[in-house]
Amino acid sequence: MTWQTLLYEWANFVVRWIHVIAAIAWIGSSFYFVHLDLSLRRRPNLPAGVGGDAWQVHGGGFYHMLKYLIAPPHMPEELTWFKWEAYFTFLSGFLLLSILYYLNADLYLIDKTVWDMPQWLAVALAIVALAGGWLIYDLLYRTPLADSDDALLAVVFALLVAAAFGLTKIFSGRGAFMELGAIIGTIMVANVAMNIMPNQRKTVAALLAGQTPNPAYGKAAKQRSLHNNYLTLPALFLMLSNHYPLAFATRWNWAIAGIVIVIGAVIRHFYNSRHAGKPSPWWTWGVAAAGVILIMWLSAQGPSAAAGPAAANPPAATKIAFAEVQEIVAAHCAMCHAAEPLWPGIKLPPKGVLLDTDAAIRLHARDIGLQAVWSHAMPPGGNVSAISDDERAVLAAWLDAGAPAD
Ligand code: HEC
Repeated sequence: MTWQTLLYEWANFVVRWIHVIAAIAWIGSSFYFVHLDLSLRRRPNLPAGVGGDAWQVHGGGFYHMLKYLIAPPHMPEELTWFKWEAYFTFLSGFLLLSILYYLNADLYLIDKTVWDMPQWLAVALAIVALAGGWLIYDLLYRTPLADSDDALLAVVFALLVAAAFGLTKIFSGRGAFMELGAIIGTIMVANVAMNIMPNQRKTVAALLAGQTPNPAYGKAAKQRSLHNNYLTLPALFLMLSNHYPLAFATRWNWAIAGIVIVIGAVIRHFYNSRHAGKPSPWWTWGVAAAGVILIMWLSAQGPSAAAGPAAANPPAATKIAFAEVQEIVAAHCAMCHAAEPLWPGIKLPPKGVLLDTDAAIRLHARDIGLQAVWSHAMPPGGNVSAISDDERAVLAAWLDAGAPAD
């Protein structure tokens, strides 16, 4: 192993580690503050300017939280800001996206069968999509739509579903899902950096100048903060989705992403209503469960229609000799999935998956099905090693027969 490989592998791991830690901190504080805000109650005898209070118990102590609706009468001596968890999530996320998807665009981002484009173009489009997503989103908040939370959220979600569709027509399913997740993440962090923070700074500046801060600053920041909360669950699903080829590499992948966006939003709605002391909207779980069943059904419709349904529905009762399977895997998988991969740019067997011996092929029978038969996640890059539909059908028939060893 060269030192470059060692460095690349560990950079990948360490950056991912930081990304997950920062995201936990950020989403944790998003959940906490939205819960706190909704659980505040107006009670008699609260100090002037306080809109509500809440009592909490945690770690053996009681907390009495007060929320000053606009600002406290004086600037407190110490004030904790919440922004670095958001910024670090973005910075580490962008770095990880670059290390994996942009440096290896030919395998991760591009699908030649969707759009055969040079790597630089794929990366440029991906970065434009991140910036464009934020610009369009931010523009919406400057229209009269912003007066209605529900209307605004509905339009944002409709646009995200449209983005899911559009991205799957540009990138590989894997790349499209990751990009959509990154677009949502970028919107969330830009909400913090470009709206919530500046509004808070204006409020603090007014306080320091001895003026009464404009309540509009706090209101705008609160709206963005609440909307971020609705985006957390879909963003997390998309970030994890690349481990699940049935989600990203089947025919209806964009619809699956769209349904997940709705599921994520209704689940947040359930908790947010409950924490606000309103009647619990139990219907949301019905919608979420129906959504999950629908997603599973959609994913069972198999890989892209262009490739034909043969792979998903093999001809019944064809006897497949194991030698045939071994030959297909050797010709289309083992150049990457070997102890010493031959494919340029691949230094170690990807994800530690070896497909270079009979025993290894049998061991990974189900993985082969998930990646190359029931979905078209592998071979990556839109089938770089050119496995044919007939060969996938042979693998399908072999799996259907219980992956026999002879
Ligand atoms: C061009 C190189 C290449 C070829 C050819 C290739 N793979 Fe992969 N494979 C990869 C890469 C890269 C990954 C890691 C993807 C990721 O980061 O999730 C991978 C991951 C996998 C995984 C593990 C997925 C996981 O998340 O654990 C399986 C199983 C797999 N491939 C099976 C196959 C099969 C079956 C074939 C042949 C039909 C094949 N691969 C052909 C590069 C390749």
